[in-house]
Amino acid sequence: MTQWPHQPVMLEEVCEHLKAVPGGRYIDGTVGLGGHTEAVLSRFPDSHVLGVDRDRDALAQAGQRLAGFGDRVVLVQGSYSEMERHATQVGWDRVDGILLDIGISSMQLDTAGRGFSHRLDGPLDMRMDRRGPVTAATIVNTWTEDQLTDVFRRYGEERRARQVARAVVAEREERPFARTAELAELLQRVVGQRRGPTLPPATRCFQALRIAVNRELAELEAGLVSALKLLRPGGRLVVISFHSLEDRIAKHFFRHEAAICVCPPGLPICVCGKKATLQILTRKPLRPSAEELDMNRRAGSAKLRAVERLADDAT
Ligand SMILES: C[S@@+](CC[C@H](N)C(=O)[O-])C[C@H]1O[C@@H](n2cnc3c(N)ncnc32)[C@H](O)[C@@H]1O
Repeated sequence: MTQWPHQPVMLEEVCEHLKAVPGGRYIDGTVGLGGHTEAVLSRFPDSHVLGVDRDRDALAQAGQRLAGFGDRVVLVQGSYSEMERHATQVGWDRVDGILLDIGISSMQLDTAGRGFSHRLDGPLDMRMDRRGPVTAATIVNTWTEDQLTDVFRRYGEERRARQVARAVVAEREERPFARTAELAELLQRVVGQRRGPTLPPATRCFQALRIAVNRELAELEAGLVSALKLLRPGGRLVVISFHSLEDRIAKHFFRHEAAICVCPPGLPICVCGKKATLQILTRKPLRPSAEELDMNRRAGSAKLRAVERLADDAT
């Protein structure tokens, strides 16, 4: 049996929370190498999955893995923020479940030519969809010091964001950055002198650039709105995030949509007319089990949140 390199994260929890609906329609908005989709197709009787991914290489691998399911699966290259359009194209207006397992796959991280890893030398690219106009090299070679500081601080939570941005701007005047190793070397110099056990010095800024290149937070905000529109009442949305900024976006969106009133505190009666559109199924985010972490240390930062769509007249 073929062993696929990316182990789907929190597979049991995903299947349990998506809930099997016989003959159900599901969207996997981040199909990657198809691990979660394969489980849905195998375990949910007569289900159909629309698998979306920005990455053509991932889709090619998912296509091989899922070939045995025939027309129960359709794979599309695109963004999950546009899942309504993708669903319309296959003739679906409502679905029973949606999964967003956001971030990058091991395949992307471990392929030097994709430029995601500071450990492997490759072109400074980081695009999930290589048709996109902006690479990591575009950002480090053309954005201003203030813009770079903002990216490293906001998306990487890098304490030395300003120093890194200043060093990048000074160095690119000599020679533009082209390779991951060149940037990793600068980060080693500028960030690397911290004491105590910390992340490798390049980790935070590489992550920040990846998020900026792929506009990952804007994708998530738009994707959550689209997902809610597509779910039928009783349909489930499961989001796995690997980064506190992403988890925060999902948490706030779900709390807002689950609230029945958003009036300012102190009003004697509710005047906002807000209705709850969903019910939160995971009060706190679920984390991978100790057994899973033993087998897959990359699952370490995963957090899973799940919600159920309410009927339009629920509150
Ligand atoms: C963690 S992997 C998913 C792995 C997958 N669940 C599996 O079992 O193999 C994340 C995938 O999401 C894709 N991705 C990230 N953001 C996306 C977006 N906005 N739209 C579509 N795909 C996206 C990446 O290209 C990557 O293949």
